[in-house]
Amino acid sequence: MENPTENKTIIVTGGAGFIGSHVVRLMVNKYPNYHIVNLDALTYAGNLENLRDIEEKPNYTFEKADITEPEAIREIFIRYKPDGVIHLAAESHVDRSIKDPLAFVNTNVLGTIHLLNACREFWGNETHGKRFYHISTDEVYGTLGEDGLFTEETPYDPNSPYSASKASSDHFVRAYGETYGLPYVITNCSNNYGSFQFPEKLIPLFINNIINEKPLPVYGDGNYTRDWLFVEDHAIAIDLVYHLGQNGETYNIGGFNEWKNIDLVKVLCSLMDQKLNRSPGTSENLITYVKDRPGHDKRYAIDASKINRELGWKPSVTFEEGLAKTIDWYLNNGDWLKNVTSGNYRDYYKKMYG
Ligand code: NAD
Ligand code: DAU
Repeated sequence: MENPTENKTIIVTGGAGFIGSHVVRLMVNKYPNYHIVNLDALTYAGNLENLRDIEEKPNYTFEKADITEPEAIREIFIRYKPDGVIHLAAESHVDRSIKDPLAFVNTNVLGTIHLLNACREFWGNETHGKRFYHISTDEVYGTLGEDGLFTEETPYDPNSPYSASKASSDHFVRAYGETYGLPYVITNCSNNYGSFQFPEKLIPLFINNIINEKPLPVYGDGNYTRDWLFVEDHAIAIDLVYHLGQNGETYNIGGFNEWKNIDLVKVLCSLMDQKLNRSPGTSENLITYVKDRPGHDKRYAIDASKINRELGWKPSVTFEEGLAKTIDWYLNNGDWLKNVTSGNYRDYYKKMYG
């Protein structure tokens, strides 16, 4: 749909977050003729440190804005006249959604609708070459039993406030396509891991706790299964779908890489012992079984054959390579970890941006 040699302006929402920062970096470096506008509210999960290496590039601009504020969004659309939106901004952590569902409705549902309205208003019927790309999750499909995979046809059946809010936003994107002819594409991806992930999610939390010799809180019996994808492979898929995906289509993205939590944690412990020169078994001793997450989905696993067949995408990094790279990154970026866990960076942003 898009011609990557044309000049384009693309707004990436949530570009200071984990996946968003990888998407921004990839697009800024790969498409010098595109203007990438990173629209991010810099919540606890947004961190401009994630983009230090590209922040001086002439085709990159940061705009601090909140997608729940329609006037701010309008003003940014007027200023930049975007050709496309890649929408990643969201409240993304399931455990937080259990504590505070409304925050998830506000950002994930209402914020998405404000963006859709801005696209409708500014593109009108001139939608040739325009695209709203909504980044969603496999969690909208609910949970699997021992076997089977989520396909694009699996009915939505979300179980947590987070997944319910993401499912709702997916429905609104589709509805704007059907009702107003908005050109859109949606992808539903499995669990990502890699650099710059806020240490509240399983892998970076456990790496940080192992470094600091703190307990590793495994929920329930640990026999929950997730399908892990290296974040840089997700960014590659997003680039591909943005340019080559069909309007009105959904693509599932996954790692073909299922792990029970407890097995993954044991592999992580053993690798960390080696990297930290600790005797074998040291990190495993930190494993502590704790109360289960309410509504905990048993198993996620993605059938990513459609994106493979139609767009030629498949993961390029094995789990062994990806996990080793990830551990090395956190070990070599202790200051980043200290900064985000101490909250210093939020105090700094408060001073900078009010
Ligand atoms: P993240 O929590 O690391 O980053 C979210 C970003 O959005 C942050 O930079 C934050 O500041 C920004 N943001 C939050 N609320 C905002 C608001 N109201 N206005 C503007 N910006 C706001 O999230 P992530 O893990 O990078 O996930 C990005 C997207 O991908 C989300 O939509 C998530 O649902 C989806 N997703 C994530 C995963 C995963 O494993 N992390 C997997 C599949 C899909
Ligand atoms: O599947 C895609 C989703 O993956 C994304 O949409 C979400 O944004 C992302 O947060 C992630 O959701 P999960 O709930 O699967 O990820 P999390 O890292 O929180 O948990 C992974 C598994 O590990 C899950 O079964 C819960 C378990 N867990 C998690 C934490 C934080 C623990 O056992 N202990 C923990 O401390």
